[in-house]
Amino acid sequence: MTDPTELFPEIPNIYDFPSVHAGMLYDNERVEKYKKAIRAVVKPGDVVADIGTGTGLLAFLCLEVGAKRVHAIERTSAIEWAKKIAVKNGVSDKIKFYKTDSLDCDIGEKVDVIISELIGHIAFEEGMAESLFDAKERFLKPKGIMIPEKVRLKVAPVEDNQIYAEYIDCWGNIEGIDFSPMREEAVKACYLLNVKNTNLLSEPTTFFNVDFDDKKQLNLKNNKKFKVFRKGIIHGIALWFEANLSSDIKLSSGPFNDIDTHWQQCFAPLSEPLIVDQKDEISVEINMQLRTKEKNNFNFNFEIKRY
Ligand SMILES: C[S@@+](CC[C@H](N)C(=O)[O-])C[C@H]1O[C@@H](n2cnc3c(N)ncnc32)[C@H](O)[C@@H]1O
Repeated sequence: MTDPTELFPEIPNIYDFPSVHAGMLYDNERVEKYKKAIRAVVKPGDVVADIGTGTGLLAFLCLEVGAKRVHAIERTSAIEWAKKIAVKNGVSDKIKFYKTDSLDCDIGEKVDVIISELIGHIAFEEGMAESLFDAKERFLKPKGIMIPEKVRLKVAPVEDNQIYAEYIDCWGNIEGIDFSPMREEAVKACYLLNVKNTNLLSEPTTFFNVDFDDKKQLNLKNNKKFKVFRKGIIHGIALWFEANLSSDIKLSSGPFNDIDTHWQQCFAPLSEPLIVDQKDEISVEINMQLRTKEKNNFNFNFEIKRY
């Protein structure tokens, strides 16, 4: 069972740190794709809600293309930085700030566009689905548009001796002391790193597709078959997201981009590597329970079986 804090082991509330926002603001792929989607969707005079405004980037970009007003909601103290930046840039009269969780927020009107970037390393661990289904229901006009429209979790089995040696098999004899009990802990965690696409042992598969135009899904369980395309050793699975920001603008944290994003990929290790042959079939089962207003925790587990 993986707890999302294990994805960010060093700090429990990462968004209280300026460096985390800088990492996102300087992620060129992320920013350019959002700019394109905003240009395609937001029309002059639109009213926008920005869920999780952080330091305000998406709100400012919407104003640049002519939005009349932005409701900017943020649950961390980053909102104080966004307010100062709005004043500095002469747009504070066009943004209404709310320091709260969007689930507890009332913005007093319906909007033309809901924009957000709540996408986690494995797409859903930061509470995106529950926050956005709720925002859509309560804030969006009937013909309003969501950015992003859809988000998918992609998965593939991975062979990576080096990663496995560095993060899992490193727990052995250190300074003459037997640290092997730590190995049991290390296999329960997830690791953020850049997986090489040449290390994938099968075509990636979409596990979950959350479509904000479709029905609300907060329990995600799926089992998929993979055909291994070469002899090798499966050390774990790689997970990443693909999002349609608008109908033809895609953003992905996959290992196929020439440009790496700040998300990297998530590597979830197996407790013991699995030797496979070309054309072997394996099944992967993933079970995710997303946060709800009533139950504020996220769980993720997976299992691999040979067919
Ligand atoms: C990935 S950051 C993106 C920040 C900013 N929108 C940007 O693009 O640079 C997500 C932000 O959303 C905030 N957040 C996540 N879920 C939220 C919610 N339900 N209500 C309010 N803020 C939320 C987080 O605290 C964080 O600052």
